[in-house]
Amino acid sequence: PAVGLVDTHGRVHRDLRISLTDRCSLRCTYCMPEQGNEWLARTSILTTDEIVEIAEVAASLGIRTFRLTGGEPLLRTDIVDVVRRVAAISGPDGPVEVAMTTNGIRLAEVLPDLIDAGLTRLNISIDTIDRERFAALTRRDRLDNVLEGIAAAAASDLKPLKLNAVAMRGVNDDQLADLVAFAMEVGAQLRFIEQMPLDSGHTWDRSAMVTREEILEALSERWTLEPVPGRGGAPAEKWRIDGGPHEVGVIASVTAPFCGACDRLRLTADGQFRNCLFSLTEYDVTSAVRGMPVAAAPDDRRRVIAETLHACVLGKLPGHAINDPSFLQPARGMNAI
Ligand code: GTP
Ligand code: 5AD
Ligand code: SF4
Repeated sequence: PAVGLVDTHGRVHRDLRISLTDRCSLRCTYCMPEQGNEWLARTSILTTDEIVEIAEVAASLGIRTFRLTGGEPLLRTDIVDVVRRVAAISGPDGPVEVAMTTNGIRLAEVLPDLIDAGLTRLNISIDTIDRERFAALTRRDRLDNVLEGIAAAAASDLKPLKLNAVAMRGVNDDQLADLVAFAMEVGAQLRFIEQMPLDSGHTWDRSAMVTREEILEALSERWTLEPVPGRGGAPAEKWRIDGGPHEVGVIASVTAPFCGACDRLRLTADGQFRNCLFSLTEYDVTSAVRGMPVAAAPDDRRRVIAETLHACVLGKLPGHAINDPSFLQPARGMNAI
C-alpha cells in the first residue's frame, strides 16, 4: 500500500489515540454506571509489546502524534514504560509526540517519571471545581487528587496544558465562567466539550447538552471573546479572553462538527482500529497478529498491521451522523475506545 494514511475524502491521518485500559478510577455519571462497565478481560487488553509494534508501524505510515488515553491511562501499572517505548519511535518526519489525556488522579505522583520517559503534552479532565458537585458527578470524592495533578502539570514544562470540561445542564452550566477563571489562574487552556452520545448506558439526551452557543453566551457575560484564527485540524475552536494572553476553547462535536478536518484514528484497549468515535465497524488488528505463528517473520506481522490500518482508513465515512434521525450509537462507550 502507498505510504501515508489518506482516506477516500482526502484526509491525511497523523494522530493515533491509543486506549490503554477501559478501567477508570472515577465513575462519571455521563460515562459509566456506579459498578463500572463489564470490563474487558485482561488477556484481551493489548500488551505493551503489541502497542509498541503497532505504534511503530503507524509511525512509519505517517502518524506523528500518539495520544494515550483510557479509561484512565494512569491505571496501567506499566504506564511509564509505555510512554518511554512509544516516545522512542521515529517516523519519516522524525521523533513522534506522545501526549496523554488523564483524569489527573495519581498524576502528581507519576508526572516526573512520565516527563523523564518522554511525555510531551497533557490534557486533564475536570468538569467542576466544586467539591460536592465533583463527588456527585464522578461518584468519588477525589477532587483534591485531581487538583494536585493539575498543580503538578502546571508547574512542569509540558505546554500548553489543556483542561477538558464537558458542559452539562444542571451539573456545571451555572459555573462555566468559574472554571475558566480557575484555568486562567493555573495558566491552562480550558476547553468546553459538548456532550456526545457515547455513554455506556445509551442515555444521551440532546436537551441536556449545553451547546457551543450557550457556552459562548455564558462566558460573554464576564469577558470579551475574540476568535483565534488558524484552527487547522484541531477539534477546539478558540477565543482570546479580554485581549489575551488567555484563551478558551469549545469542542462542538454535535452542533459544529469538525469531521471534515479530522486527522485521527483510534486503537481500542483490546486492539481494534477505529476510524471514528462513532464508527460502527472495528478493524481487528490484534486477532490478526496474535493468530500468526510466534515464529512469523516480523515483516509479515508488520505487513498485517499496515494492511489493517489502511483498511480502517479507507472505511472512514465523511462524518458522524449524530444529527441524523437514523443515528445509531456505537455499542461501546468512550471509555473503551
Ligand atoms: P489535542 O491534541 O490537545 O487537541 O487533544 P484532543 O482534544 O484531541 O484530545 P482529548 O483527549 O483531550 O479530547 C478532548 C475531547 O475532544 C473529547 O472529549 C472529545 O469530545 C473530543 N474529541 C477527541 N477526538 C475526537 C474525535 O475523533 N471526534 C470527535 N467528534 N470528538 C473528539
Ligand atoms: N461526550 C463528550 N465528552 C466526553 N468525555 C467522556 N465522555 C464524553 C461524552 N459522552 C470526555 C471526558 C474527557 C475526554 C477524554 O472525553 O470528560 O475530558
Ligand atoms: Fe473515567 Fe473519563 Fe469515563 Fe470519567 S469520563 S469515568 S474520568 S473514563
